[in-house]
Amino acid sequence: MNTNLVEQKFQELYGEGAILFTSPGRINLIGEHTDYNGGFVFPGAVDKGIVAAIRLNGSDRVKVHALDLGENSEFGLREEDKPAEQWACYVFGVCREIQKRGYTIGGFDAVFSGDVPLGAGMSSSAALESTFAFALNDLYNLGIEKFELARIGQSTEHNYCGVNCGIMDQFASVHGKAGHLMRLDCRSMEFEYFPFDPTAHGYRLVLVNSCVKHELVGSPYNDRRASCERVAAVLGQEFLRGATMEQLEAVKGEISEEDYLRARYVIGEEQRVLDVCAALEQGDLETVGARMYETHWGMSRDYEVSCEELDFLAEVAKECGVSGSRIMGGGFGGCTINLVKEELYEGFIATATEKFAARYGHEPKIIPVVISDGARRL
Ligand code: GLA
Repeated sequence: MNTNLVEQKFQELYGEGAILFTSPGRINLIGEHTDYNGGFVFPGAVDKGIVAAIRLNGSDRVKVHALDLGENSEFGLREEDKPAEQWACYVFGVCREIQKRGYTIGGFDAVFSGDVPLGAGMSSSAALESTFAFALNDLYNLGIEKFELARIGQSTEHNYCGVNCGIMDQFASVHGKAGHLMRLDCRSMEFEYFPFDPTAHGYRLVLVNSCVKHELVGSPYNDRRASCERVAAVLGQEFLRGATMEQLEAVKGEISEEDYLRARYVIGEEQRVLDVCAALEQGDLETVGARMYETHWGMSRDYEVSCEELDFLAEVAKECGVSGSRIMGGGFGGCTINLVKEELYEGFIATATEKFAARYGHEPKIIPVVISDGARRL
C-alpha cells in the first residue's frame, strides 16, 4: 500500500503528527446475498485495503484528501454539512453515525489512499468506512466495540450512500484475521474463525477481475433485497433464512416469478454455505469448488446479478479444470473467485487471460489472495 506516499502528502498539506490506520477489503468464499437475509457468510480480509494518515485538528471541520483521485473535501460535522463528493460521504457518514450513537468527536485532517480495486466486489467502500471508524474510535478513545464499528460502516452505506447492504463487508474489514476465514451467522451475529490455507491442500485461491465496474449505489442491489423481504413477509418470517424450498413452492402462486427466482437462489445459497463448512472440515476442497460453481449459476440465472464477462470467466475456469469459480460480492461486475489446483494454476491464468482478451479487447486483472488482518493502527 501507498503508506509512504500518504504520509508524505499529509506532511505537505498539514504538517507533522499524523497517525496511520488501515483496513482491508475482503473476499467471500461462499454465502452471497445471504447477509441481509439473516443467513451465513464466509468472508476473509485480504492484504489490500485503505490506508489513512489522520490527525485531530481541534476544530469542528474535517479536511480530507483522496490521494488516488487528487481531490479534497472539507465539511462540518452537522447533518446539513454533507459533502458534494460521493467518496467524501463515506467519511462524513462514519462521523455522523458515531455522533448519532451519542459520542462526541471533533474535526480532523486526513489523507487516504487504497489498493483495493474500486468496483471489483472486494469492498473498497467498507475498507474506507472501517478505516475511519476504527481511527476515530482510537483517537477519541470512544471504547466502541468492534462489531459496532462494523455497524457504523453499514449504517453509513444505508443513510449516506444509498446502498441497503448487509453487514458482511464491514464485519470482515474490522474482524479479519490472517490465515482465517470467518463464518458469520447474520441472524444471531455470532461468528467463528476457520483456519483456511488452501496451499496446504495443494490449491490456490485467485481473483480474476473482469474490470467491469460494479456500482451498487442506486443499483438493482436494493431491488434484490426488497424481493427477498417481500417473500419473507409472505412466508410470515422476519428473514428468508430458514425457509425451505417446499415452503417457497407452497407460496409460488402468491409471489411474482421474479421474487420466486430471487428467493430460490437465497434458499439454495444457505445450504451451500453449510455444505462448504462441512467440506472444509473434511479437507474436501472439491466439494467446496462444486458449490462455488452452483453459486455462480444461481447468481447468474436466478438472482440475475452476473454479467456476460463474468459468466465467460466461470465457463473458461470450468474448461480449464478449475475446481471452483464464481462471481464474488454484490455482482453486476467485478471479480470471480477461483479455487484452483496448484498444478493447473499457471495454465488457467494464461488461458483465462488470453481468451478474455480475445473476446473483450482487454486483459482481466489477476489478483492472488492473501488472507490478512482486519482494521488496525499502523
Ligand atoms: C455487497 C454488500 C454485502 C453483501 C454482498 C453480497 O458486498 O455490501 O452486504 O450483501 O454484496 O453477498
